[in-house]
Amino acid sequence: MKTIDIIHNEHRALGAVLQALAYVVDALRANKLQPDFGLLAAMVDYITLGPETVHHPKEDQYLFARLRDRSPDAAQLIAKLEQEHQDGYAMTVTLQKALIHYQSVGAAGFAAFAEVVAKYLEFTWSHLNCEETELLPLARTALTAADWAAIDAEFADNFDPFAGADGEFAGLFSRIVNLTPAPYGLGPAAAT
Ligand SMILES: [Fe+2]
Repeated sequence: MKTIDIIHNEHRALGAVLQALAYVVDALRANKLQPDFGLLAAMVDYITLGPETVHHPKEDQYLFARLRDRSPDAAQLIAKLEQEHQDGYAMTVTLQKALIHYQSVGAAGFAAFAEVVAKYLEFTWSHLNCEETELLPLARTALTAADWAAIDAEFADNFDPFAGADGEFAGLFSRIVNLTPAPYGLGPAAAT
């Protein structure tokens, strides 16, 4: 089941950026870091575009669609997760606006930005956990070997989630890792 590996990998990549974002916002709140708006923009860009253009379309069109056909009991869970895909995208738009405001007004915009980040993180961790602990186990038992072969082929037609169509996601992810302070990234550690 290549599909499950791909989904796990994409969740891990997204989770790494979410953890780094949480760390940076905590360090900013504690005045241990100066804001690096290039880094914050790269993080918000990644968590907006990765799920919206690469991850969610595959889940919605291939995995969820086949599971819904195979297991009527899963319909309610799938509807909830599909709704969360839309709500999650709307939250990233709010996040972009809050980041622009923070950048334009400086420290006065931090609290509002941090609040939006906290809501987004709570929402997204809960969504990822629900997919990992409820949706994927259900799919493992309900889908047949032929279903998995078909979904694996559909996922394989999709481009490499880390490289993107022209390497944009790989480049973005590396830049986030390089700019994020240690120990969550390879940048200089925050003040202690
Ligand atoms: Fe997912």
